[in-house]
Amino acid sequence: MAIEAHGGTLINRELQGNEKEAALEKAKNLKTLTLSAWAISDLELIGIGGFSPLTGFMGQADYESVVQNTRLADGTVWSIPITLSVANDEADQYQVGEEIALKGEDGVIYGTLQLEEKYTYDKKLEAENVYGTTDEEHAGVKKLYERGGDVYLGGPITLLNRPDHGDFTDFYMDPSETRQMFADLGWKTIVGFQTRNPVHRAHEYIQKCALEAVDGLLLNPLVGETKSDDIPADVRMESYQVILKNYYPEDRTRLVIYPAAMRYAGPKEAILHAIVRKNYGCTHFIVGRDHAGVGDYYGTYEAQEFINQFEDELGITIFKFEHAFYCTKCENMATAKTCPHDKENHVHLSGTKVRGLLRNGEKPPKEFSRPEVAAVLIKGMQEN
Ligand code: ADX
Repeated sequence: MAIEAHGGTLINRELQGNEKEAALEKAKNLKTLTLSAWAISDLELIGIGGFSPLTGFMGQADYESVVQNTRLADGTVWSIPITLSVANDEADQYQVGEEIALKGEDGVIYGTLQLEEKYTYDKKLEAENVYGTTDEEHAGVKKLYERGGDVYLGGPITLLNRPDHGDFTDFYMDPSETRQMFADLGWKTIVGFQTRNPVHRAHEYIQKCALEAVDGLLLNPLVGETKSDDIPADVRMESYQVILKNYYPEDRTRLVIYPAAMRYAGPKEAILHAIVRKNYGCTHFIVGRDHAGVGDYYGTYEAQEFINQFEDELGITIFKFEHAFYCTKCENMATAKTCPHDKENHVHLSGTKVRGLLRNGEKPPKEFSRPEVAAVLIKGMQEN
């Protein structure tokens, strides 16, 4: 029996065939709203069921409940608002009850919104409760403040076109497809791995520790919007293929993109990440050190501690890993749980340091990064 989607039913808000053609024809005569790439990615994830049980952009009751209680209004655990923001004057154009065509910046109609609610919200409160800080230097808070819109539009959506995933199309699957793939592979237990970084030795270590205990690994890198100093998704995708080819058993791993935007919301985003992977059919999910963190905003294990409170209700098993490193005395990857040696034996490199090395064309030590991965990253950093 496959794992249930969050809330019990895998949502599908997408129209196909004649119904889709008719809806697109009708949408041409509707008022339109142009969405950012971020909002389009949310629309897609709602439409394909990645954000089950959501059926649309959140209305006020769900929004406020999520911000205040980490739950939807009906009590289902949910940690990050999925909202559609517009400026005040723009919001005036739309009447509650009407259907709005949702366009991308490329002019394509990606879907429609049945407008049920317009409401104002408190950005500071959202920042404080979701990101744990109102500091504008925080990458997620900065985005929230920059968005400009003071009004949220809520209501169910219909997905009419999926965004083009370009070079990543071969690695794109929706949740019903990954579920089918796991069934076809005969995998009963699947660990999902979220990342916005190349896979370094520490990532590899925790993935493989998990893989000792389950049937398969879904490497599910986030490829939507990230902050500018993160390594671009196309470079990362190449590095994932290289590491999988050279160091992972082909029959026990699959690479599928997660087309969402990164929020950098640490503990709260860890919950969203787990829920989404459950919807894709994973039975297990990895939360390591400072999951979805940025800067020093969250404690190393804050995401693990927070998710502990909800794990029973989430229904997906969380594999929690301590900070992993290479120990020169053990001559192995390890954590404080398995290594008795002093810190000076542990290979630690900060992200900033690694990016600096790569930009200069220098490979980080092989204890930190597989040489094949480092080569892809150096090439990528120099081209970008
Ligand atoms: S994230 O922002 O996408 O979460 P990242 O790509 O760095 O960040 O991490 C992916 C996953 O690996 C997260 O669960 C994170 O906690 C975990 N992780 C990253 N580095 C380490 C490490 N050195 N030791 C243990 N876990 C780690």
